[in-house]
Amino acid sequence: LFSAIEMAPRDPILGITEAFNADKNPNKVNLGVGVYYDDNGKVPLLDCVRKAEAQLMEKPTPRSYLPIDGLAAYDKAVQELVFGADSAVVQEKRAVTVQALGGTGALKIGADFLKRFSPNSQVWISDPSWENHRALFEAAGFVVNNYPYYDAATRGVNFSGMLNALKEMPAGSIVLLHACCHNPTGADLTQEQWTEVISVVSQRGLVPFLDMAYQGFGDGIEEDGKVVRRFAEAGGPLLVSNSFSKSFSLYGERVGALSIAAVSAEEAGRVLSQLKRVVRTNYSNPPIHGGQVVASTLSSPELRKLWEDELAGMRVRIREMRQALVEKLKDKAPGQDFDFVIKQRGMFSYSGLTKEQVARLRDEYSIYAVDTGRICVAALNSKNIDAVVDAIAKVL
Ligand code: LMR
Repeated sequence: LFSAIEMAPRDPILGITEAFNADKNPNKVNLGVGVYYDDNGKVPLLDCVRKAEAQLMEKPTPRSYLPIDGLAAYDKAVQELVFGADSAVVQEKRAVTVQALGGTGALKIGADFLKRFSPNSQVWISDPSWENHRALFEAAGFVVNNYPYYDAATRGVNFSGMLNALKEMPAGSIVLLHACCHNPTGADLTQEQWTEVISVVSQRGLVPFLDMAYQGFGDGIEEDGKVVRRFAEAGGPLLVSNSFSKSFSLYGERVGALSIAAVSAEEAGRVLSQLKRVVRTNYSNPPIHGGQVVASTLSSPELRKLWEDELAGMRVRIREMRQALVEKLKDKAPGQDFDFVIKQRGMFSYSGLTKEQVARLRDEYSIYAVDTGRICVAALNSKNIDAVVDAIAKVL
């Protein structure tokens, strides 16, 4: 059975971490994976998480199975965060939320659910998109297409190309959209552009699937989540995957959720019953700890304030690193314009580095980035930035 199995390629993102871990150079830098590191190069353990865990430890609970759809307090808190507690969709009980294994797990539940109920639809993802989007939807059985998104000439969004593609998609097509902090480009739509997208999606009867893995890393929790609320207000089916890997620095706990907006409470009940079947046949039910930490933090005014402040701190530090990167590159690589890095949102910069330049950064300087030139700005710090800038200037 196994003798004919070929070696699979390394994962384009997590495979970089494997190579990085094997590198013996003490000055190595991993700008590959989307993980936030603090100025000491460490993944932070947030104070809100520490405090929530201390409170949970005071009243330890037995570890029975959670319900298939997860911890009820978690699902409620996430739904209110995603749609707004006072939103019509929440008030009218038209929204359903299931706890998922990170944002990837949420996408997978959504993909399996859609394949079951809309088997002939095709999926459309941005060009480019997160490396795993295509693989994940293809693994669920879908044909996956690209819609135009990034414009290398302006380093921004090819909005007319995107809108024209949306206008030509058959009704029922599933459109994967990044709610904020577009991965990998860092180029987001403006609110005015979202207005046009929402209107075309509604008119053509497309099925929007919003991926929100970086809420709070763009302009703020409210600001970054606004597009989800706008889609929900427009009516029609809506799927939203969200993740607390980055915003709570809980990567290894795998805490995310899939939320769906239905047209009525009755329809929402049927949708939930089917989502539970998908979960049950994938992994039965989710783990407890991460969900408890997030639920207690979001539902305690004191811890929630702490979380918002800590998330703002991460957002501000990333911005400072963008600024520093641009200023230092001006110095070391005169004649090259990197100002676009400041405009990009979230953890990433689509740096414009070619595959060959990325290979040289890795082979000659132990600096790791994604082959497409995506670098994780959140991995830069005051100690490694000069070495990274020097290396970039040399390979340019
Ligand atoms: C990334 O894009 O680097 C992150 O979303 C981590 C991952 O799972 O790929």
